Amino acid sequence: MNILVVGKGGREHALAWKLAQSPRVDKLYVAPGNPGIATLAECVDIRVDTPVSDRDKLTGEIDRLIEFAKDQRIDLTVVGPDDALAGGIVDRFQASGLKIFGPTEAAAQIESSKAFAKELMERIGVPTARHRSFTDADAACAYIRAQGAPIVVKASGLAAGKGAFVCHDETEALSTAREMLEEGTFGGAGSEIVIEDYMVGEEASLFALCDGEHYVTLVPAQDHKAIYEGDRGPNTGGMGSYAPAPVMTPELVQEAEDRIIRPVLDEMRRMGIPYKGVLYCGLMFTEEGPKVVEFNARFGDPECQILMPLLTSDLVDVLEAACDGRLHEIEIQNSDAAAVCVVMASEGYPGSYEKGFAIDGLQAFADRDDIVIFHAGTAHRDGRFFTDSGRVLCVTAIADDIESAVDKAYAAIDGITYDNVYFRRDIAHRALRRKD
Ligand code: GLY
Repeated sequence: MNILVVGKGGREHALAWKLAQSPRVDKLYVAPGNPGIATLAECVDIRVDTPVSDRDKLTGEIDRLIEFAKDQRIDLTVVGPDDALAGGIVDRFQASGLKIFGPTEAAAQIESSKAFAKELMERIGVPTARHRSFTDADAACAYIRAQGAPIVVKASGLAAGKGAFVCHDETEALSTAREMLEEGTFGGAGSEIVIEDYMVGEEASLFALCDGEHYVTLVPAQDHKAIYEGDRGPNTGGMGSYAPAPVMTPELVQEAEDRIIRPVLDEMRRMGIPYKGVLYCGLMFTEEGPKVVEFNARFGDPECQILMPLLTSDLVDVLEAACDGRLHEIEIQNSDAAAVCVVMASEGYPGSYEKGFAIDGLQAFADRDDIVIFHAGTAHRDGRFFTDSGRVLCVTAIADDIESAVDKAYAAIDGITYDNVYFRRDIAHRALRRKD
């Protein structure tokens, strides 16, 4: 089979790494890919990364990729980024007779419109924080005053993971709502906002691969979004992740499947927009059980970088079954090992940072099965890798348990050097604390 992966980050490197292991793959392309991906697949210089707010440009990029997919007789396309899904890449590929794994534009609203997702959940009684949606700033502020703080204010649309604010005082909530609705801080993504109750608990994610009716779940995972240790500071594209997440016992996974995944799939089928693709359930484990924080319509980053190494099934078989509505015919196999990913970034990220520093030490891990280095933002010149982004490398370690995987990941990081490096030293701290 000829397979095409869409995207350029660590998540897509992990997908390509896993797909490259399938005996069913003849040729693997990644558009546009990155220098790490180029070691195992052919990178194609076609970008589908324009924000969905610039619809015409994004559609043009998608159409160029469709031409490529037809020319190269691509049998299956796998999409990484959310904007491409929200911009209808799946609809356009399918209309051209091409098989593609992911939700249609209408189904991807579960991520691209938080208002849509919240209304859906409310209608069918999926546990989530109580909410109201607003397009008018005065009405939003009146609601915030009536509810008081702490309270959560979210841009309804896609905001590159930066559109959700947990406001601990009312003044902060009022100004956040006004900035989004009146000053357009998130452009069109913030022209509607969702205001919801603050939830207390531990967050974790459950990923379901769905075929419109059936689903299979991957190993429960947790990520670290904040830049600083102790989960403080501004949110980033992800500073680390680990699985399995001890907070999500098998009983709680079952509860999440019964009360969240199954009803959402049934309702979306009833609405005429069956959900095919990854249903990323961001969950809060509260005293009343798991509640939905948000849904995403794609693999998580950096969760994909731990979930692919833990998946023992052939990913091609699973994705193909999902596209064909046959997920009930397969049994997904996951390893019972643990995986930890530590993201190596550039000092200053997510603010301004310098790049272009030479990276040394990667070669030592080329043949290791228990350490995999996924590239998030590197450049390659004259036989050397250089830093090229805020998030640079995702160092994934696999071991018998989380503690050993943490030790192994940090030992690997000791062997990788570049100027201006920054990484968190406390990845998986919640899991380690539970063990004590
Ligand atoms: N890990 C967070 C995300 O992928 O959105």
